[in-house]
Amino acid sequence: MNINNNIALIGFMGTGKTTIGQRLANKLEWNFIDVDQQVVVQEGRSIANIFREEGESYFRSVEREVLNNTLNNSHQVIATGGGVVLLEENRTLLADNCLVIALTASVSEITKRLNNNTDRPLLQGDLEQSIRQRLREREGLYDFAQITIDTTDRDVFSITDKIVKIIQAK
Ligand code: S3P
Repeated sequence: MNINNNIALIGFMGTGKTTIGQRLANKLEWNFIDVDQQVVVQEGRSIANIFREEGESYFRSVEREVLNNTLNNSHQVIATGGGVVLLEENRTLLADNCLVIALTASVSEITKRLNNNTDRPLLQGDLEQSIRQRLREREGLYDFAQITIDTTDRDVFSITDKIVKIIQAK
């Protein structure tokens, strides 16, 4: 395993980046970094408040800065926010510094997982429609990952074990 000994999990909201990332980091005994969480800490306010008070482009600039700083370190599992791939600069940064793993799930599974969600400002109105539209806008943007894993109908444990096996074989 190399690429600076960092693993980045990318993927749409609700694909399990944080849950799987935490477990993977535990198993590898690496640090777990959640980019969204770092943004919240740095800003001292929730994601929803950042979007409401400053707008999306401000959020994206803080997200980019946090990602940049994170990549100065190694032996980390990094869970990114679903929209991190919108900036080409972030995609290049991730590809150059991490083993990038994309997590996917079906629209109905994502809808189910995000049903009680209150902190995802980009999903407004009808949840399933909103998810479909955002997925369309982002089509292809997660494809630069070296590995893609569908998390629909699979539990966190088996997905994590699968990732560990892939890494060990590298
Ligand atoms: C976003 C995803 C969220 C968070 C923000 C924007 C997106 O992260 O960064 O609400 O644009 O897809 P999760 O993917 O962890 O939900």
